[in-house]
Amino acid sequence: MQTKIEKIDSSSALAIKIIEDQPEDRLDFLSFREKLSFYNISHAKKRKEWATSRIAIKDALDSFQIPYPGFFKDEHGKSQSMNGRGFVSLTHTFGMAAAIFHRDSPVGIDMDLIREKILSIGFRFLDSSELDFLEKDPLHYTLAWSAKESIFKCQGKRGVSFRENILLEPFEKDSKVIWGKIHGTDHDDHHFQVRTRIIDQTVLTYTIW
Ligand SMILES: CC(C)(COP(=O)(O)OP(=O)(O)OC[C@H]1O[C@@H](n2cnc3c(N)ncnc32)[C@H](O)[C@@H]1OP(=O)(O)O)[C@@H](O)C(=O)NCCC(=O)NCCS
Repeated sequence: MQTKIEKIDSSSALAIKIIEDQPEDRLDFLSFREKLSFYNISHAKKRKEWATSRIAIKDALDSFQIPYPGFFKDEHGKSQSMNGRGFVSLTHTFGMAAAIFHRDSPVGIDMDLIREKILSIGFRFLDSSELDFLEKDPLHYTLAWSAKESIFKCQGKRGVSFRENILLEPFEKDSKVIWGKIHGTDHDDHHFQVRTRIIDQTVLTYTIW
């Protein structure tokens, strides 16, 4: 199944891919270190997710004719380019994987299945001001959750709390953009514009620093 590539602008692209078994040679582009990581994943489903999201990154890079540099995880778990050029973020959820690449700025991407049970955990990741404007609707809550995940991944540092440090401005269920900010951390406050997309029963969000 082909990767769906979407150029966001001249510096960034989004890649979405159905998770499926990949022929072994499809992963030849991986660095030695990445191949080691891949073969160390014992769970078959996780291996498939991992591989599909790396192919999504590769396909996004191909759309700019940029060679795949290999990526390593920093101490926070964020993927960093081995040659120090370009930024990526990736996500995998039931049946789908996605990646975003940007030449110059950190990025964050997230996908989540819309599920009823998110309504019962709102108090864990939402501030009271957010609980006030959100309808008790799984789509609205999932958009809020996913926007916070994208912001979290874009900033990349562990120890940032979804409820206490990431605050969203009021938005509607059909909003294409959600504004959010990081506050109250050791790092500078920063405002993020998060783009949203609904694909079947899945929310996709992404943000560029
Ligand atoms: C790590 C975390 C970002 C992963 O998100 P997820 O929705 O479980 O899974 P996704 O498939 O969307 O994303 C996984 C990818 O995130 C990336 N990731 C992990 N840590 C990251 C970080 N600190 N910064 C950026 N990206 C990160 C990895 O590339 C990972 O994929 P990989 O393991 O194949 O390399 C998330 O679970 C997390 O820890 N969030 C912060 C903790 C928190 O506050 N949780 C909610 C409180 S109620």
